[in-house]
Amino acid sequence: MQHQAHKLEQMVGKTPPKNGHTRFLAITSGKGGVGKTTMSANIAFLMAKSGYKVGLFDADIGLANLDVILGVRPKKNILNLLKGESSVEEILLQVEPNLWLLPGESGSEVFEFSDQFLLERFYSEVKKLDFLDYLILDTGAGISEHVQMFLDAADDVLVLSIPDPAAITDAYAMIKVLSKKRDRLFFLLNQASSPKEAESVMGKILKVANANLPNLQIEPVGFMGRDGDVERSIKQRYLFSKEIPNCTATSRLNDAVRTLTAKMEQKVLEEREERGFSRFFKRLLNQF
Ligand SMILES: Nc1ncnc2c1ncn2[C@@H]1O[C@H](COP(=O)(O)OP(=O)(O)OP(=O)(O)O)[C@@H](O)[C@H]1O
Ligand SMILES: [Mg+2]
Repeated sequence: MQHQAHKLEQMVGKTPPKNGHTRFLAITSGKGGVGKTTMSANIAFLMAKSGYKVGLFDADIGLANLDVILGVRPKKNILNLLKGESSVEEILLQVEPNLWLLPGESGSEVFEFSDQFLLERFYSEVKKLDFLDYLILDTGAGISEHVQMFLDAADDVLVLSIPDPAAITDAYAMIKVLSKKRDRLFFLLNQASSPKEAESVMGKILKVANANLPNLQIEPVGFMGRDGDVERSIKQRYLFSKEIPNCTATSRLNDAVRTLTAKMEQKVLEEREERGFSRFFKRLLNQF
């Protein structure tokens, strides 16, 4: 145990832990295959590069594939932690300076877990993750029950879409559901064919949302083009923002990340309520 505490200290560095300040950002979409996993990993990398301690959580219950893009093979995951079989140190994988993967579980067992004794131990164990400034959740697409539970538990949600009309319709359906429980969300358009198209698609969404969902503020954080560098990075399994720091995609995503973090930090200053991993997982698991 002492060895493990030492290991965590080594992983985290000497910065004193700021308990319970982590912000939870879920990345989701209406339609699948729009770039959630790619953008989650690259957003997390850029945040980490700018000095934040960032965790990436594979909340894509159907298909866990963040590990592929990050080039790691998790042996243990959140379910082992929940069952008390593993400690935080044993499941958390450092993938870059300031960046860790918290491997999720591709099944619904996590949500069906009901052993109160182990749950209490779990809530206490996950406090070790409170050193993270951000947790980015890569969720599945669509309005399934489990995706919804992750979205409800997160502080903020970033909806991703592509300009394709079917994807926009699905994104809007997702936005409508989200508007019932939150008053703001972030929006990132991916794979636009030109800045003009991005502007026109965004404008339409904002117009419909403002007219029909008056209590919801949609904050566009930018757009990404349909981009050969991004496509190659996915095929060849690397992070474009890491390997091609000067490309258009990296520079656009960096702007989006700056907007995102500024807006999220602002809200932290306004709120002041207790946060942290214990509270996050209680919110997540007590909802059924
Ligand atoms: N900006 C981009 N430019 C070009 N191609 C892109 C871009 N973003 C994503 N793609 C393409 O979209 C595909 C899907 O990306 P990704 O796996 O990140 O989507 P996803 O939303 O996580 O999918 P799923 O819903 O299945 O989890 C990639 O294989 C890639 O070919
Ligand atoms: Mg994905």
